[in-house]
Amino acid sequence: MGKNITRFVCRDCGQESLKWLGKCPGCGNWNTLLEESVPVRTPSRNVRKTHPIALSDIPKTPLYRFSSGMGELDRVLGGGIVPGSLILLGGDPGIGKSTLLLQVADFIAQKDKKVLYLSGEESAGQIRLRSQRLGIESSLIYFLNDQNIDQLGSYLQELEPDIVVIDSIQTVYSENLSSIPGSVSQLRECTAKITDMAKKSERVFFLVGHVTKDGALAGPKVLEHMVDVVIYFEGEKHFSFRLLRGVKNRFGSTDEIGLLEMSGLGLKEVLDPSRIFLSAKDPTVCGSAVVASFEGSRPLLIEMQALVSSAGPGYARRMASGIDQNRLALIIAVLEKRRGFNLSAYDVYLKVTGGVFLRDPSIDLGIAAAILSSYRERPLPVDMVFLGELGLSGEVRPVPFLDARLKEIEKLGFKRVVIPGGANFRGRNANGLDIIEIKNLDDFIDIVMEG
Ligand code: TYD
Ligand code: MG
Repeated sequence: MGKNITRFVCRDCGQESLKWLGKCPGCGNWNTLLEESVPVRTPSRNVRKTHPIALSDIPKTPLYRFSSGMGELDRVLGGGIVPGSLILLGGDPGIGKSTLLLQVADFIAQKDKKVLYLSGEESAGQIRLRSQRLGIESSLIYFLNDQNIDQLGSYLQELEPDIVVIDSIQTVYSENLSSIPGSVSQLRECTAKITDMAKKSERVFFLVGHVTKDGALAGPKVLEHMVDVVIYFEGEKHFSFRLLRGVKNRFGSTDEIGLLEMSGLGLKEVLDPSRIFLSAKDPTVCGSAVVASFEGSRPLLIEMQALVSSAGPGYARRMASGIDQNRLALIIAVLEKRRGFNLSAYDVYLKVTGGVFLRDPSIDLGIAAAILSSYRERPLPVDMVFLGELGLSGEVRPVPFLDARLKEIEKLGFKRVVIPGGANFRGRNANGLDIIEIKNLDDFIDIVMEG
């Protein structure tokens, strides 16, 4: 360790510069460069410490996982917690990050494992209050109110916990740096130290991360590069439903989402997820269509709502929440070309209920159906579900996992489903679900909208 030098570091992307700039050359954001002093590390002499090793010589280690006690969290983690991993949990303030981790700590402590909960945000008393409320009483959960990361190593030796929760990474600091907790260099330094501690043992570290106004994790992207798993905890403030979404996972896929519900007694798993996304349907409502979207490894039945209303002067508005804006524009273009609907004179709003974002192409037909229903002011049958991807020439293309989707549709009591042609169900599947096969949008309009 030598003297410190001063650098300017972008708080969004971590780009460094020797002088102050108004606009970050890395991410292009304005006024994000902050002055930080960085210790100069004297380069170590060029001594080789490690050797390259053949892939086949690396000892095989079975990937062992254990449960977090919250099935939906396990699902997002790829089947459970992997020992020695570093898991970053990001989310808005008040969304329930501390609650979730305290509940996980409780479950793990019940399995005779030790948990160290380091909190820089709340006092011991506040944590005690929350645990009382959640009915958590354990002698294996240790609480620590020390934000100094350099001390953590000695606490770990003393206590030997299996799980460490750092709530939050923005409040811890290292004495090696003079900058304030939460600054880019502190985040980087602390995460590097924690990574080191995690890799040397089988210990699991949960890091809580704050998010910025735009919903991204505060701090440089390097934070996400350094950890094994990044999970976002999302949800609408005014709903009790919460969504866990994996954005990075070194031990599994990131397609899965986990659904939780905040109750008076903490977070609960949502056991029948489709319930959130379907309202009690009113048969006279126009512009509502139900789709079966495949999220990760399970189908979710979700209601789409469209509103088509006369546009004022100027451009008609197209607004989508829960799907990509461009996808909405594309489906509108296909509808206009195919049947000559003059949608350019109308504003089109589309909303996916429940606050999820859908990427599954098979919901195209449902989107088109909702728009047409609102445009024509004709309600769609309440017991019907729509499946199919739309091609640019109006053809309805096949969807994968048809059987799994049909099963879920039956389970939730729907009676009819519109699917792409070629599946050969001849009107009805084995369980009596009415199957309407269509080849293109024209079929759809003739059979469903006008039939
Ligand atoms: P918290 O876990 O403190 O959020 P974060 O750590 O992400 O900031 O959760 C805070 C909110 O959750 C708080 O506004 C109250 C609510 N809550 C409940 O509704 N039920 C509960 O049992 C608990 C503990 C919290
Ligand atoms: Mg908290």
